[in-house]
Amino acid sequence: MTTSPSGAHTLAGLAGTIVLVGAGKMGGAMLEGWLALGLDPAAVVVADPQPAADVSALAKRGLRINPSPQAVGEAAAVVIAVKPQVAPEVVPTLAPYLGDGTVALSIMAGRTLGFLERALPRPVALVRAMPNTPAAIGRGITVAVPNATVSPGQRVLVHALLSATGAVEWVDDEALMDAVTAVSGSGPAYVFLLAETLARAGAAAGLPEDLAGRLARATVAGSGELLQRSPLDPAALRRNVTSPGGTTAAALDVLMASDGLDPLMRKAVAAATQRSKDLAG
Ligand SMILES: NC(=O)c1ccc[n+]([C@@H]2O[C@H](COP(=O)([O-])OP(=O)(O)OC[C@H]3O[C@@H](n4cnc5c(N)ncnc54)[C@H](OP(=O)(O)O)[C@@H]3O)[C@@H](O)[C@H]2O)c1
Repeated sequence: MTTSPSGAHTLAGLAGTIVLVGAGKMGGAMLEGWLALGLDPAAVVVADPQPAADVSALAKRGLRINPSPQAVGEAAAVVIAVKPQVAPEVVPTLAPYLGDGTVALSIMAGRTLGFLERALPRPVALVRAMPNTPAAIGRGITVAVPNATVSPGQRVLVHALLSATGAVEWVDDEALMDAVTAVSGSGPAYVFLLAETLARAGAAAGLPEDLAGRLARATVAGSGELLQRSPLDPAALRRNVTSPGGTTAAALDVLMASDGLDPLMRKAVAAATQRSKDLAG
């Protein structure tokens, strides 16, 4: 595994095996991203009782599906992408893949490093990560927190594995993961809600419902793309489309009032942060 001159990661030269436990929506998106980064399918083992057809089809290219864990042996990385609810039964079974050089990477929401350290059958280097749904199109953002035993090389490997579905940020303080969950983990739902409420408001302003829906959807998607491509921050982009005394300014006077979007979003993110704390284990 190397970093290309553009800074993008490639997994083409990876030594060792990557075991993916749970190849559902998120695990499947990661797998697709790894292969796009040049990972040899023969370097990947998928453990999933009912893999999707597109995952099963990769067996033709050398991907191993549900082989005997003993035959696989020590992996370079074990990526745990099952639902958090099944973690207590799945994580203790991973022993055959774990050796001195293995790093375990969990993307399970709410499952803490402490839980994983207790559930794993032996002490290993460990990273807890929180991705979000735009990972499905390679445009996610994932926040990762390592335990104390992750080596610099393992961190590079995990960074490359996570960067296959978008941007990656690292934090050292696991307590931040609750707020991370509330902002980027749950955040896509807030943006979809914005598209819904904008459509409803458009219909209330007299537009045919379907037209309002199309306008709202394209506006949220196009603005997101503009934000992605622009070097400007969101406030500068907002100011660029707001003429003093104009229509946008009239709406922003409402949205940016003291009882506008800011206190509402703060309240929403605080509620999600608290819920994440309550659910953590
Ligand atoms: N989706 C997101 O936006 C998102 C965001 C952040 C974090 N996450 C985390 O990502 C993880 C996966 O979520 P997801 O949305 O990808 O769920 P998912 O689509 O249900 O994927 C989980 C996969 O694990 C499989 N599985 C179940 N039991 C297993 C076992 N014993 N051994 C191996 N595989 C098993 C499931 O198979 P069956 O379907 O046959 O049960 C399924 O294919 C969750 O822990 C979630 O918290 C997801």
